[in-house]
Amino acid sequence: MVEGKQENALPHEARTLVYLDDATEPLLSHRPPVRFELDTSRLEDGDHRLRVEAYDSTGQKGVRTIPFTVRNGPGIAVDGVRDNDVLEGKIPILINAYGGTGETHWEPSRAETPAPIPTWAWVLFIAIVAFGAFYGVRLWRPPPDFATTPTYGPLALELPQSAGLPATAGHNAVPAALPAGAAGGDAALGASVYDSHCVSCHQANGQGLAGVFPPLAGNPAVTDTDPATHIEVVLNGLQGKAIAGVHYASPMPPWADQLSDAQIAAVINHERSNWGNHAPTVTAQDVARLRAAK
Ligand code: HEC
Repeated sequence: MVEGKQENALPHEARTLVYLDDATEPLLSHRPPVRFELDTSRLEDGDHRLRVEAYDSTGQKGVRTIPFTVRNGPGIAVDGVRDNDVLEGKIPILINAYGGTGETHWEPSRAETPAPIPTWAWVLFIAIVAFGAFYGVRLWRPPPDFATTPTYGPLALELPQSAGLPATAGHNAVPAALPAGAAGGDAALGASVYDSHCVSCHQANGQGLAGVFPPLAGNPAVTDTDPATHIEVVLNGLQGKAIAGVHYASPMPPWADQLSDAQIAAVINHERSNWGNHAPTVTAQDVARLRAAK
């Protein structure tokens, strides 16, 4: 202060000095206003500061410090460690650097740091695929032409159960729209005839009741490629025949008077394509021929 008072007596020139970081030599010293260019490319990337000292004509000193950061080098992306993480053991770390100021050719793909796919992305992906598979399987219905083939036969079994639902109920519309006697209709008819006329003895699983009613699953007449015996038994009934070495006390009733040719053909085909049976199917005409032959 005392010194300042003394200098006060002398004529002073206003002056501005600019220092970079901790330098003792000023970057420049000039009368205000000062206009200059700071070349950051000479500076190392990182934190720096400009210190400005200014003196007025009375010799009073003002100081101002401006911190700043230089970044001329490439950007740096780091995966695997973050600021102030607490680390243990071996840590896989991935580092990518891209886009320095000095580079004239900019390659965007280099900015894509190949970080591993996060777990939640996998979980989401698997969930979506699983739902898609579930949805596809749920809604899959065999085309009507193939609905009664051995591959899809068991699926066709579902049809009679849903037949009572309104025709607007999705897959139901397909068999409902079929002309009578078409393959899909046959499967539905066959299952319903079986359920109303045969199931009490031969059972829903086609296994019959041991020693009382014969199984139709694997039954020689049912699996025979020549369907004549099968048709005749259903038309005319059967009594006293040993099937696979077993004698059945009760008779198999005749159905010719109760069931139409189409119903008999359908129930025969139902038996020929269920419970593991894969025998050739018959038509209503085949039944009519044997009915007339009697
Ligand atoms: C009242 C019980 C009963 C009902 C209902 C019945 N069956 Fe039978 N079925 C039998 C008996 C018992 C036999 C064995 C007769 C024998 O071996 O003499 C038999 C045998 C059969 C056989 C085997 C014939 C053979 O040569 O091996 C077929 C196929 C068959 N039934 C189809 C049907 C069909 C189709 C219906 C429904 C339309 C039906 N059954 C309804 C009691 C029944």
